[in-house]
Amino acid sequence: MEYERLDFLDAVRDLAAHVGMEIPQGSYSASSAQSNSKPLYELMQQVSSFYRQQLKEHPRGSEAINYLKARSVSGETAAEFGVGYAPPGWDTLQKHFGNDNTQPLATTGMLIKKESGGHYDRFRERIMFPIRDSRGRIIGFGGRVLGDDTPKYLNSPETPLFHKGQALYGLFEARQANRNIQRLLIVEGYMDVVMLAQHNIRYAVATLGTATTIEHLELMFRTTSEVIFCFDGDRAGREAANRALENTLPAMQAGRQARFLFLPDGEDPDSLVQKEGKVALEARIDAAAPLSTYLYEHLARQVDMSSIDGQARLVELARPHLNKLPAGVFKHMMVTRLAEITRMEERSLSRLLGNNKPITASAPPSHNQRPLGNKQDKQPSLVRQAITLLLNTPSLGQLETEPQRFASLNAPGITLLIELLEMLRTSPHLTTGAVLERWREREEGRYLAKLVQQENLVDSDQEEIFSSLLQQLYRRHVIQRKDILCNTQELTQPEKEELQQLYKYLNENPATRGGVK
Ligand code: UTP
Ligand code: MN
Repeated sequence: MEYERLDFLDAVRDLAAHVGMEIPQGSYSASSAQSNSKPLYELMQQVSSFYRQQLKEHPRGSEAINYLKARSVSGETAAEFGVGYAPPGWDTLQKHFGNDNTQPLATTGMLIKKESGGHYDRFRERIMFPIRDSRGRIIGFGGRVLGDDTPKYLNSPETPLFHKGQALYGLFEARQANRNIQRLLIVEGYMDVVMLAQHNIRYAVATLGTATTIEHLELMFRTTSEVIFCFDGDRAGREAANRALENTLPAMQAGRQARFLFLPDGEDPDSLVQKEGKVALEARIDAAAPLSTYLYEHLARQVDMSSIDGQARLVELARPHLNKLPAGVFKHMMVTRLAEITRMEERSLSRLLGNNKPITASAPPSHNQRPLGNKQDKQPSLVRQAITLLLNTPSLGQLETEPQRFASLNAPGITLLIELLEMLRTSPHLTTGAVLERWREREEGRYLAKLVQQENLVDSDQEEIFSSLLQQLYRRHVIQRKDILCNTQELTQPEKEELQQLYKYLNENPATRGGVK
């Protein structure tokens, strides 16, 4: 996997081919789908070559070249990113690739099926940007109109090759340009990535018209330890930043850094780098606000920080965010920082934040220690049982729609479980191997791999057992929360109401068989 930079399944397949073994079908459901799609990657490569050739040779190609020139894209840059041109016409690809390829072209989203039968080209009269996966295989395209038509950009739909929530435009190109990437800049658009690269800022990637997902972040943090979000300075940019923040918190572990950069109103990285050049833009990047600064400044703007009430309110606002952070050094630092800002003692702050044990006690539950409970325990902990089931049958993750409801539960391994649930909620098709792959370079990866190998698995009623585990965990959360509220001196009205709800829940959901561990 390291040497060829392959994911788990591809590495297994390569290895098997090497020694002449067959991989049993069915053990990994995705493997058969993927091996069938080999020709699809080749086809996409050929489509991309065809579009590049059309840029040079089609009678209308010169319009596209003029457009690129007007936007200052050099020939070299266009070649590096494989920029091409989809000419006008509804059957260009079918004419070029023949009827035999109609079905695969439709599967890859390059053709659209007509209701009346037959197919037509999805991309017409557009500048074409091929989107590559981290191995450099073309998985989709983005196409830009030459003028002011809408939609301005058309992207490939979800296909067996292309999953928007997992694809990052420019990541492959960035890795090609630099083996050892220090940081990644997340921008919004294709042209931002391309123009930054042309100015020798070769570490920009773009999400494709979507908010940054946890999957995106895990992908980036496999390449680098620092990501910098870049947003427009306008309102939409602020809103995008808040969404990005929410998705970033669960991924923040010790050693990872996220920062936030806001550009002047009306500028994007493409326009700004052309205006002020590499040095000035990199000075902005260097000065981007760390996640903690961004979060607390953003929250402080909503309260009156000069009053004690305001400071208490800040703690309330911060609580749900902090609860999304995995336990560990980074969370500790965030709480310390909040204590400074609100001039509170860390101990009382931790209590206010709803943690039984102060987060800042000398030994916070850390990922470096056994994350999954005590080995001497005869019966594995609920969390461990849930993780084991989930690893062996990742599709179970679909049963939980709101993993963050466990965020403040105090139980070893809970952040890992939440992270798994979050990931499988957005990508329920992942196989066991793919899940392990994602944790490969992390401390917990070894534990996960061990769990898969060692545990004896139930093979019937998995859904029922898994649901029951989650219910027991949630019940435990309710009990913990109830205990905290019961031990609080003066409850506010909302807290009183919450307490009532908690009692109601406990009455309606008595402890199940085996009880709460
Ligand atoms: P913007 O509208 O900010 O455009 O879209 P841009 O990147 O500055 O494009 P240029 O400079 O006019 O060429 C940002 C990104 O949002 C997605 C694309 O990924 C685009 O790069 N987008 C935008 C779409 O998918 N569809 C659209 O119609 C518009
Ligand atoms: Mn732009």
